[in-house]
Amino acid sequence: ILKPLPPRRFVDYGTNAEMRWDSVDPARYHTAQRHLFVRNHTRTPTIDPATYGLRIFGDGLREPRSEADAHVLSLRELKRLPRHVHTAVLECTGNGRSFFASQQDEPASGTPWTLGAVGTVRWEGVKLRHVLRRLGVSPRAVAVMATGLDDEFTSGGTNYGRVRRPFAIEKALDDAILAWAANGEDLLPDHGFPLRLVLPGWIGIASIKWLGSLEVSRRGLTSPWNTTFYRMTGGDYPADSPPLTVNPVRSAWELPWAATLPAGVTRTLTGRAWSGAGPIRRVDVSLDGGRSWRPAELEDPRGRAPRSGPADNGTGWTRWSVRWRAPRAGSYELLARATDRAGRRQPLVTPYNAQGYFFDAVVRHPVTVA
Ligand code: MTE
Repeated sequence: ILKPLPPRRFVDYGTNAEMRWDSVDPARYHTAQRHLFVRNHTRTPTIDPATYGLRIFGDGLREPRSEADAHVLSLRELKRLPRHVHTAVLECTGNGRSFFASQQDEPASGTPWTLGAVGTVRWEGVKLRHVLRRLGVSPRAVAVMATGLDDEFTSGGTNYGRVRRPFAIEKALDDAILAWAANGEDLLPDHGFPLRLVLPGWIGIASIKWLGSLEVSRRGLTSPWNTTFYRMTGGDYPADSPPLTVNPVRSAWELPWAATLPAGVTRTLTGRAWSGAGPIRRVDVSLDGGRSWRPAELEDPRGRAPRSGPADNGTGWTRWSVRWRAPRAGSYELLARATDRAGRRQPLVTPYNAQGYFFDAVVRHPVTVA
């Protein structure tokens, strides 16, 4: 990790680091890159933007190209294409993983995130579909493989090769972005400089950083990141459960973990809710450990980012708030439960899976009133 990690803003796990929710500025909608979580399989590479080139090849192009004969697009060429700006959540599939331990005895493997492996960024770049259409896509294309330029990933004695993950051509021709900037600034090295893929609404691994190549193919493609990792395994899941794509609905309080609040004061408590499947419709909160619930006030009931364009509709997060005066000093559990427009509501329990993905259950946030 190359960006400095102030301890009051991050929990540091070595090559990974998560944002602390109490470091979130309630007045600021987007997550500054220096506050954004980092999830690296290996180390952040240093890439010279002057010599960088994105390689695009495959038999899914109208005029098929081998890898050796790939189209190579420089950063300058990409930046001459129509600029596209889009606010979207970026979230690790394993966000919330540590809470599986509070639900059942079996621990889930992987980085023990609380809820800070998420952020909302104003991405800037060019639509992938624009680039692909210019090069020409075969009507028989079905998949695209995105490969990063970071080191090959080795774990438990196995070398899995470069970090890469395929995705459906429909997503490539829909809202996929080749992004070179976040919130108006060049990407930081940890977040994919000079170019990353962004697949709005999809799990974090789909947004390959330090994007080196795109293979457009007429057949389905696989990599360990959609067969071994980022699929549901263990628990009650079937052996052939599909690769994960769209993120679930989740929410968090902008409070320290655990929080201490002064007694006898009415205050506004704030939080955010988000979903990979579109805007948030409502957030219900419980301030008494789940006995009673009431709706939180949503900043924008249409679930849009402030000052957003039409493309942003619902791919950012929704800020919410609730006024609270604790009846007396003591220990409390604050609960938030979000529902998205697709009708998906946070469950009370997330079924176990071995790799600890998609923990979307309502979290009991501990608060001491003193
Ligand atoms: N891309 C490459 N090349 N290498 C990686 O290790 N990690 C992925 C994804 N893209 C990764 C990658 C994962 S698991 C996540 S959650 C996001 O990047 C994290 O993006 P961030 O570090 O910018 O927050």
